[in-house]
Amino acid sequence: MTNKSYELTDPSSGTRTALPVRSPTVGPDVIDIGALYREQGIFTYDPGFASTASCESAITYIDGDNGVLLYRGYPVEQLAEHSSFIEVAYLLLRGELPGAEQHAEFERSIRLHTMINETLLRFFNGFHYNAHPMAMVSGVVASMSAFYHDTTDITNPEHTEIFSHRIIAKLPTIAAAAYKHSIGQPFVYPQNHLDYCSNMLHMFFAVPAEPYEVNPVAARALDLLFILHADHEQNCSTSTVRLAGSSGTNPYSAIAAGISALWGPAHGGANEAVLAMLNRIGKPEHIPKFIDKAKDRDDPFRLMGFGHRVYKNFDPRAKLIRKMCHEVLEELGGRDEPLFELAMRLEEIALKDDYFVEKKLYPNVDFYSGIIYKALGIPVSMFTVMFAIARTVGWVAHWKEMNNDPGGRIGRPRQLYTGPAQRDYVSVEKR
Ligand code: CMC
Repeated sequence: MTNKSYELTDPSSGTRTALPVRSPTVGPDVIDIGALYREQGIFTYDPGFASTASCESAITYIDGDNGVLLYRGYPVEQLAEHSSFIEVAYLLLRGELPGAEQHAEFERSIRLHTMINETLLRFFNGFHYNAHPMAMVSGVVASMSAFYHDTTDITNPEHTEIFSHRIIAKLPTIAAAAYKHSIGQPFVYPQNHLDYCSNMLHMFFAVPAEPYEVNPVAARALDLLFILHADHEQNCSTSTVRLAGSSGTNPYSAIAAGISALWGPAHGGANEAVLAMLNRIGKPEHIPKFIDKAKDRDDPFRLMGFGHRVYKNFDPRAKLIRKMCHEVLEELGGRDEPLFELAMRLEEIALKDDYFVEKKLYPNVDFYSGIIYKALGIPVSMFTVMFAIARTVGWVAHWKEMNNDPGGRIGRPRQLYTGPAQRDYVSVEKR
């Protein structure tokens, strides 16, 4: 708390309320309006939470004007260059980078939890082959509480620890099962001598009839993408996990709620939508027509992969992914070079356009990530699942932080009611 405060005076009664100001480690001050309703009987109104801090958090910091993203204080660029997804997961969950022994012990625990209950596998047979993988994955994750019910006491730190390792370790296995089901191939079991991303690629692309070598370039690219997607403070899906979790619900259900929120095209579903958009544009000469559509207020079309609620200068993740695109396409044989060329041309044209400049719309993390996933052979319908695997780490870190918050209460927003005032029931003959 600072010694600053804002004062709000009720114009009719003259009641004054001092609203204390809290200062974060970095970033803008926050006015604590907790006493407002109690003292003045009014609510605040902020649709989309554009000016509202919903909680206190020590995990991730974003400076949207300067394109800064820090995980536990470490710039994402440094983590992308020097760290690994598993190390970043440890950092996000526990607050500090692990020592060598802690790292080895954490990684070992994740590796040992990769298998899923065999009965859970049978769930996939209940889905039609062309069910969207996000639908299958959110359904199966929600059902995990029925299989791992022995460790869902959210007040027990040991249970919380096992839950967090299980969900992080098993999500790639569940994703791979959804993929194999959709293409009619047999499920491939995890190989625990492989690292996290290699294991995932193996489960996706190996078949029992053939030997399969994971391409280390592909595994490293995936690891980098996962680092960049691991957390992003109070975004839509993370806030959903917190809100669902605030009721004390089963942690698997809270994560399943986050997966559902991520699916939307305004959030994680944008990576799939970008590919669809690029395919629809087709050729560089069609770009101006689509730019005009995106600017037309009467046309619902938006440039997918452009714009962000917080980043108003550039998205640091997009910068890193763009660079990675060059490297990956070069090393993997440039299978999707024309798509990448088209994306770069679209970016170039949009960034010079007054509409995009004035509204500060820049490419976001999803603009180029789909091109890399495609180059790795991952089908378009699985893109958002990839995002979900990485973001699970952030969801779990926030869920844990929320649970350990001594001032934590159930999330329960209020509203500005615009429906009819009280009225009397009218019998059907008189309506
Ligand atoms: N194309 C065209 N116009 C846009 C776009 C776009 N991609 N994004 C925003 N605008 C315009 C919008 O029409 C509005 O104009 P006006 O002020 O005239 O009404 C203005 O810019 C502000 O947009 P907003 O929708 O109020 O901004 P928001 O902060 O509520 O939404 C967003 C942010 C990311 C949902 C939005 O920019 C968008 O829909 N982008 C495309 C989808 C996308 O790429 N999503 C991925 C986000 S990053 C990864 C993640 O979060 O998972």
